[in-house]
Amino acid sequence: MPQLTLTFAKPIAPKHGVAVVLVADAATLGREAATLDAEVGGAITRGFAKATFTGKLGSTLDIVAPGQSDLDRILAVGIGKVGDLKSTDWIRIGGVIEGKLAEFKAEAATVLAELADGAELSPGDTADLALGIELRGYTFDRYKTKKKDEDRAPKERKVTIAGEGQAGAKKAYAARAAVAGGVNLARDLVIEPGNVLSPAEFADRAEKLEKLGVEVEIMGEKELKKLGFGALLGVSQGSARPPRVVIFKWNGAKSKDAQPVAFIGKGVVFDSGGISIKPAAGMEDMKGDMAGAAAVTGLFHALAKRKAKVNAIGAIGLVENMPDGNAQRPGDIVTSLSGQTIEIINTDAEGRLVLADVVWHVQETYKPKWIIDLATLTGAILVALGKTYAGLFSSSDELAERLAKAGEATGELVWRMPMGADYDKLIDSSFADMKNTGGRHGGSITAAHFIKRFTNDVPWAHLDIAGTGMDSTQTDTNKLWASGWGVRLLDRLVADYYEE
Ligand code: BES
Ligand code: MN
Ligand code: ZN
Repeated sequence: MPQLTLTFAKPIAPKHGVAVVLVADAATLGREAATLDAEVGGAITRGFAKATFTGKLGSTLDIVAPGQSDLDRILAVGIGKVGDLKSTDWIRIGGVIEGKLAEFKAEAATVLAELADGAELSPGDTADLALGIELRGYTFDRYKTKKKDEDRAPKERKVTIAGEGQAGAKKAYAARAAVAGGVNLARDLVIEPGNVLSPAEFADRAEKLEKLGVEVEIMGEKELKKLGFGALLGVSQGSARPPRVVIFKWNGAKSKDAQPVAFIGKGVVFDSGGISIKPAAGMEDMKGDMAGAAAVTGLFHALAKRKAKVNAIGAIGLVENMPDGNAQRPGDIVTSLSGQTIEIINTDAEGRLVLADVVWHVQETYKPKWIIDLATLTGAILVALGKTYAGLFSSSDELAERLAKAGEATGELVWRMPMGADYDKLIDSSFADMKNTGGRHGGSITAAHFIKRFTNDVPWAHLDIAGTGMDSTQTDTNKLWASGWGVRLLDRLVADYYEE
């Protein structure tokens, strides 16, 4: 994978490599692009006519070795109707550009960041375009030893984004680069296989955030036993690899004792189902059952890198769910950290057991303003919402509305699901305070109610990311199995509502 270097520059006339021109509706060119077109004897506009290229958003036209110039190519990228373009569109346009540059194995490219008729591209839009390039540029090829295609790829790709607002764009991009770093960290963790990413290895990687100024505290099995994380330990006891709970603390608020916000992630590094073992087909995907924990880790990378003015607590419960002579059985009753007892009906409903103890610990220890948890919790949410929206469950209308807005702004969409006493009673147990499944119907809702019983009435939102966190939808900014879902959403939530 080539190393991407992004730079922002004043408008320049590109002389070599790939020149990228943005083309608005009705095949309209910007000023610099029109000059370039004249230089190459009208090859761009003639190309549009011959290929009936109109500048539709996301479409491309590739003009190879244009005459009267040393350029390798001119890449025209459609941006559609300029007045309609949102932040998410600019990110997408960046993704489209990087996708083509990767296909070209380009070493150098210059993007003419301009609109039609001499209009400028705003710094924010330019920075969003750069973010799209960065996100699409991510690859995971650590375990490929026979790099046939990649051998021919350049070591480095220099992308220059040339436009009037370059100073502002560079400044606006700094925060986005911090977020992109967090997204890519989350993707690395989600794709990393289970044999490599044990709970201990995940914790070691999380600890690296200390370099960015995040306080990281790691609790091992002994400590968790002493504290009484009975629900989490029940899940972990069938695995040869011991659990960890990692706490992140980011204190960026002006007043050091401002009440923190809290993010909690399910980190099941591999979910075999345990004794209630899963079918073989597709089980390999369960290496990604820690996407919630990955998103929280990526979020803290982003918050620290961009020095977010917020006090935030992160907590991830890291376990492996395996069948073994010592594994938890259906019918077992465990005592959670909260003191509430849980009858285990299905050992494959393990994520909620992990979250139960971590949520209780966080509300009790840190008294947060609210808690948001992320978890690849139920297959049922895939049935309900597919892969486009994550399921949102919340005890707070305000938090739910803000999450929905941040979702619209970032394209990481959430859909609020119902909750209520009729659902809650489905997890009452005959032999314990509750049971860990509520039957097939409304499976995502009863799972949410289970977690809610451990929030101690602290305002809370739960994001079921089983559909969005892994085996992700292919988009112009993600062509991999893991999109790093949630990092951009939660960073935006913090930035828009909770910074001082
Ligand atoms: N990790 C799974 C949920 C999951 C399924 C995530 C598909 C991603 C894709 C979770 O631990 C699980 O097994 N849930 C069960 C719950 C059931 C036993 C009540 C499920 O959804 O089937
Ligand atoms: Mn499971
Ligand atoms: Zn699971």
